[in-house]
Amino acid sequence: MPAAAPLLPVIGGELRVPLIDGSDARYVNLDYAASSPALAVVAQHVTEVLPLYASVHRGAGYASQISTAAYEHARRTVGDFVGARQDDLVIFTRNTTDSLNLLASVVPGDTVVLDIEHHANLLPWIAPHGHENRTGRIVMAGAMIEETLSRVDAELAAAPAALLTVTGASNVTGETLPLRRLASIAHRRGTRLAVDGAQLIPHRRLSLALDGVDYLAFSGHKTYAPFGAGVLVGRRDWLDAGEPYLRGGGAVTRVTLDEAGWRTGSARHEAGSPNVIGVAALARALQELATLDVAAWMGHEAALREQLVSGLSDLPSVRVLRVFPDSTEPVGVVSFSVDGVDSRLLATALSAEWGIGVRDGKFCSHPLLERLGITEPAVRASVGVGSRRADVDVLLEALGRFLAEGPAWQYELVGGHWVAAEDHRPRPGWAPELGDDRGYYGCAV
Ligand code: ALA
Repeated sequence: MPAAAPLLPVIGGELRVPLIDGSDARYVNLDYAASSPALAVVAQHVTEVLPLYASVHRGAGYASQISTAAYEHARRTVGDFVGARQDDLVIFTRNTTDSLNLLASVVPGDTVVLDIEHHANLLPWIAPHGHENRTGRIVMAGAMIEETLSRVDAELAAAPAALLTVTGASNVTGETLPLRRLASIAHRRGTRLAVDGAQLIPHRRLSLALDGVDYLAFSGHKTYAPFGAGVLVGRRDWLDAGEPYLRGGGAVTRVTLDEAGWRTGSARHEAGSPNVIGVAALARALQELATLDVAAWMGHEAALREQLVSGLSDLPSVRVLRVFPDSTEPVGVVSFSVDGVDSRLLATALSAEWGIGVRDGKFCSHPLLERLGITEPAVRASVGVGSRRADVDVLLEALGRFLAEGPAWQYELVGGHWVAAEDHRPRPGWAPELGDDRGYYGCAV
C-alpha cells in the first residue's frame, strides 16, 4: 500500500502524547511545513559532532580545526545538493527569512514579486529598510499559471527589473510554479530569478545550474535539520558588491578605529561565530535526502497528499484552498477552511482529543488568504518523509467526528485562544504552562 510506512525514520516518529481525557496517543505530526522533525541520522550526526564542537575559523586547537572543516565541508555538500554553479556562493544564515532579507540588501535594482508569497518573500521587497527605497513591484497572479507567466513577462517587459523572486512551493496550497519557464522569461529580459525554497527543498530536488535559478533560499528547520541554520545560494557578483549583511568579526580583512576593510565571498555576510552544529546537521539531512529515489520520494508524498485532498473533499463544508487549478505536482501541504467552524477551536480539539498537530491561522501569507476570500484563520495539514497513511487516516476520522458531533470536550476562549477546560495533561518541567501568554503570536494570526 503506498505510503504505509515512513520513507525515512525521524525523531519523534513514535512519540506518545497525553490526551485531554487522561489517555495517550501516538503523536500525529501533520505540521511538517512549519518545522519538520529531525531525521534520525541527523540527530545521530549531531551527537557525533558535539564532542568535537569548538570555534570555527578562529582556533588552532584540534576540535576547532575539525569544526572548521565540518563547516566548510557542509558548504560544499549544500552547494552540490542544490546544483550550485562553480562560482556561486553558499552563505549560511538563520533561516529563509534571513536569507531573503540578505538578498534584498544586495539587489541592485527593482524586484518583481507575486502577490501569493509567504511573508518571508514579500516583506523584504515591499517593506525594505527605508521605505522610500521601496523596490518591490507586485504582480497579481492570474487565475491560471499560464496567465500568471504572461503577467510576469509583461511586467518585466514594461520596465527593467534586476530580480524576479517567486515561491518554489506555496506554504498554503503546496502548489509549485514552473521554475524553468520562469527562469527563461526572466533571463530573456535581463532579470535574475530567486526562489524561496522553504517549502520546496524538503520535498523536491532542484538544480540551480540546470533549472536556471540564480538565487535559492531555504531553511534547515523545514528540511529535517532543526538546529538553526538557513542558506542563501547564488551568484557571487551582487553578494560581493553589496554591503556586508552583518557587521562584525569574520567579515573583515582589516579594522582601524576609523574604518574597516570587508571580505568578499561567503564570509562577507557571515560575521560572528558560525552555527557549525546547525550547518553540519543541514548538510547531513541533505546527504540523506540525496539517497532517496526521486520517484519513490515524490510518490510517497503524492499518495499522502491525494489521500488528504480526497478525504477532505468528501467532508461536508470543507474547502481545500487552491490558487492555480492548473498547477501540477504540488507538494504535501494542504490548507482548508470549514464553513461555520472556528479553525482555531478545531485545531485545539484535534490536539487535545486526538494527539494531532496541525497549523491554524493565516500561515504568514495574509495577502494570499485575502485573495482567496479567507477572512478567518484556516487549518493546514502537511506531510513529509516521516509521514504515513495512518497519520492522514487519524486526521480524517477526527475531522469527520468533529463535524458530525462537535468537540467532545469543553473549550473556552482565553485571551483570544481556545483552551481546553480542566486541562491536566502532564508537561515536562522544562516547558511549563505559559498562562495567559501561551506563546502564541506572530504568524499564528
Ligand atoms: N513559514 C512557516 C509556515 O508556513 C512557519 O508554517
